[in-house]
Amino acid sequence: MNTNRLRLALTKGRLQDKSVELFEAMGLDGSPIRNPGRRLIHSIPNYPLDAVLAKAPDVITYVEHGVCDLGIVGKDTILEQGKSFYEVLDLGFGRCRFALAVKEGSDFYGTYKTRRIASKYPNVARAFFEKKGMDVDIIKIEGSVELAPILDLADAIVDIVETGATLRENGLTPIEDVAQVSARLIVNTASMKLYQTEIEDFIARCEAELEKRK
Ligand code: PRP
Repeated sequence: MNTNRLRLALTKGRLQDKSVELFEAMGLDGSPIRNPGRRLIHSIPNYPLDAVLAKAPDVITYVEHGVCDLGIVGKDTILEQGKSFYEVLDLGFGRCRFALAVKEGSDFYGTYKTRRIASKYPNVARAFFEKKGMDVDIIKIEGSVELAPILDLADAIVDIVETGATLRENGLTPIEDVAQVSARLIVNTASMKLYQTEIEDFIARCEAELEKRK
């Protein structure tokens, strides 16, 4: 955003910890983000970068509006929100998948009636079934989507599966993969031109570290 320091929007929570590990491996001092307290913006002491801690959908909003030059966000949120920014790197962490899951033993495809699908990601779910040419009703749920089939609100869910424990412990089973997910580095399109040297340096450092992890 300003000409001296890059501003990076960082997804709070699980991706935050992995991002700090990456930054530190790249030689950046990640200590301010390791112990953030309630502060939301943190300057990296030994690199011209300020990290803004935000919820995943807001990371995209800040980068799209150009108030942050860079962002780290899950592919799940990118797939749901669409994108008008550059997606430059797969950071390799935060790996999970979107899956279609049903109650154990239920025959999802064995009926002609319109199926009801619950998801926190209605656009991802809609796109998946549109591709199949299948007409479904999508119900938006804000969290713990596994409840919807248990309570007979929906025939299936489209949700993030990481270890599979949440599905298992709630009597659900995945029947199809919808998409693979991992953390991505995104860049505002104007920033990419305006701060090309600085952004290329940051990307090169990320790439060098990711290369070592292969
Ligand atoms: C996500 C997802 C599943 C769970 C999957 O939920 O929606 O519920 O993690 O992880 P697992 O396969 O390792 O069990 P999250 O913790 O983000 O909470 P939420 O559903 O309330 O948003």
